[in-house]
Amino acid sequence: MPYILLTGGAGYIGSHTALELLNAGYQVLSFDNYSNSSTEALNRVEQLSGKSIVKVTGDIRDEAALRQLFSEHQISAVVHFAGLKAVGESTQLPLHYYDNNVAGTVTLCRVMREVGVKKLVFSSSATVYGDAKQVPIPESAPRSATNPYGQSKLMIEYILQDLVQAEPDWGMTLLRYFNPVGAHHSGQIGEDPNGIPNNLMPFISQVAVGKRSSLSVFGNDYPTPDGTGVRDYIHVVDLARGHVKALQYLEQHNGIEAINLGTGVGYSVLDMVKAFSTVNQVAVPYQIAPRRPGDIAVCYAQPDKAKRLLGWQAEHSLDDMVKDSWRWQSQNPDGYKQA
Ligand code: NAD
Ligand code: UFG
Repeated sequence: MPYILLTGGAGYIGSHTALELLNAGYQVLSFDNYSNSSTEALNRVEQLSGKSIVKVTGDIRDEAALRQLFSEHQISAVVHFAGLKAVGESTQLPLHYYDNNVAGTVTLCRVMREVGVKKLVFSSSATVYGDAKQVPIPESAPRSATNPYGQSKLMIEYILQDLVQAEPDWGMTLLRYFNPVGAHHSGQIGEDPNGIPNNLMPFISQVAVGKRSSLSVFGNDYPTPDGTGVRDYIHVVDLARGHVKALQYLEQHNGIEAINLGTGVGYSVLDMVKAFSTVNQVAVPYQIAPRRPGDIAVCYAQPDKAKRLLGWQAEHSLDDMVKDSWRWQSQNPDGYKQA
């Protein structure tokens, strides 16, 4: 049976997707340079599934390594997670972000084209909607970006659209993730950020476990019900299952489709803090801090297209998200590092 290649397969979303793919009967090959992950995540996926993963260390910008990868393994489709994702860092290191994300994707597609593998699921982001004028956000909303990370995702979307326009025998999905949170129900795999977390859920979890003293809530003067930012948080296992559905869709279809992966429901920062502390019976001290530059007030998905095209919709509740985040964090206070 041919492999599904996961670039960045050892990362947060990649590892959860690897598990769902193995459970659905696919064979998985991960290609990762471990710049933001470790093999331990994949080892745990193997334990959870009772199946093995082929793990290759390499960089998507390394054309020779990719050629070798495709020549040594029969690959039917690629799920392309590999990329850098820290918005703040991207403003400091724009060339690094464009090289890694944009040049890396061009190199990957060049090799895929050469070897005739033309099915690609790409990790895009709701960041491509910029500060959307209307919520819920449909896939047809105008696109824009305000930082190099967002620009890199937008550029890649344009590049992939141009490629499919030129060569209609490609099949691609641009999966626009909203805010992935949570962890596998086992507590064995989860998000393991380096240093101080940028994102809300890992920060809340680290405060709850005592690694950080309190959460700064970035702004309480937004035009939202409680004044704090509203986002569409989606359980990472739902998100992972969306990739399985996208691959199944590509088995039947060519062309390119942008598809939101979100729940369609928005929660505020204070909703998240409250749910986390109430459901898990743990204190999450916080204080109100100034707005974070670049943040928007409200962002949530119009998720109907995923249901219509992929037969996918989010199934996990907010309680599941905060419970599973806490199980992972409390069982692995130092992430994969203690292993
Ligand atoms: P992650 O950092 O946990 O995973 C990315 C993986 O890619 C890591 O294992 C990293 O080592 C690897 N990688 C990075 N550059 C590479 C390169 N040049 N060659 C090979 N491997 C490389 O991040 P994640 O949260 O799992 O995100 C996966 C994808 O989804 C990213 O493209 C990200 O931009 C996108 N995304 C994430 C979010 C989110 O909030 N987590 C939201 C929207 C989109
Ligand atoms: N927040 C806090 N305190 C924190 C961290 C976050 O109050 O310590 C707030 C933010 O101001 C925002 C909300 O929590 O209102 C969510 O913030 P995140 O950083 O978790 O997520 P963002 O929506 O800002 O960004 C995420 C990804 C980006 C992606 C974007 C859109 O990190 O990569 O979703 O998909 F581009």
